Amino acid sequence: MSATQISSILQGGYHHPLSRQWQAERQLTKSALVYPLFITDNPDEETLVPSLPGQCRRGINKLVPFLTPLVERGLRSVILFGVPLAPDVKDATGSQASASDGPVILGVKTIKKAFPHLFVMCDVCLCEYTSHGHCGVLNDDGTLNQEESCKRIAVTAVDYALAGADCVAPSDMNDGRILAIKRGLIKAGVAHKTMLLSYAAKFSGCLYGPFRDAAGSAPSFGDRKCYQLPSTARGLARRAIQRDLNEGADGIMVKPAGWFLDVLSDAKEIARDVPISCYQVSGEFAMIHAAAEKGVFDLKAAAMESLQGMLRAGANTILTYFTEQILIEGWLDE
Ligand code: PBG
Ligand code: ZN
Repeated sequence: MSATQISSILQGGYHHPLSRQWQAERQLTKSALVYPLFITDNPDEETLVPSLPGQCRRGINKLVPFLTPLVERGLRSVILFGVPLAPDVKDATGSQASASDGPVILGVKTIKKAFPHLFVMCDVCLCEYTSHGHCGVLNDDGTLNQEESCKRIAVTAVDYALAGADCVAPSDMNDGRILAIKRGLIKAGVAHKTMLLSYAAKFSGCLYGPFRDAAGSAPSFGDRKCYQLPSTARGLARRAIQRDLNEGADGIMVKPAGWFLDVLSDAKEIARDVPISCYQVSGEFAMIHAAAEKGVFDLKAAAMESLQGMLRAGANTILTYFTEQILIEGWLDE
């Protein structure tokens, strides 16, 4: 047999189900999954979000009953998004983002009390709380005021950390926010126990629609193109990742995940000494559901293959709305 013929034979290496499993650099495990939760200021609410199949907005009283079976089945981490529904709660500076009786602060306290070992992350942004729906404080010309925005974002992040969040994850995309938050955490004496996870490579685009329905956070004018990255911009993403590492990020996130696997693989290379996260966003989740409903493919197969792609590209953790179904239906149990 010639050398070419010998090197042509690959199938022996993955004939058995176990040897197929060994081909993975990273296995999908329950501890890699982070489940997004939408928390409202209406304590007894539990409402399905129409564009986000099977996902609910929940009030504070519904959190522990909902999470109990998930924690029993291996849920290790959640990320909280506040959804203020009360009238007049929004203003130009998003001052209610860190209200002590707001949904996120109450949510952190309630969840940490019931499940002390659950890793609780808080998304940090102002768009859910600003009257204009943008992710920061605005200048008169409608652009983001960097200094004021970073100040508000940092105060909010520190308040979440002081409430007991294990991780704060700013998704606002204001330049300089990582440094501002890190300094705030140090000053507040919680930097040593609070992970700062930067949504460093967050791209603008059409995939956040269902989330904005769920969170009521669509901008009232314009779009987010001057702060979220252009979807063509691999180089900008690399610069943003490097910058946020330099400013003190403990982890880097890429979002959306599925359309940006090249950026995920860049993140793994540039930020190889920190955990890499990615967010399978609302539009990706809704899209897989819609296609499965149309009979294009099996939901479970498509969901698992999409997550395997992210792991392969470099993700250590994945934020996904599939977490609930994966745990409840035991997709990772052998
Ligand atoms: C807030 C935020 C958004 C998402 C996470 N944090 C929406 C946005 O930037 O418009 C999107 C998550 C998803 O679509 O699932 N800035
Ligand atoms: Zn925002």
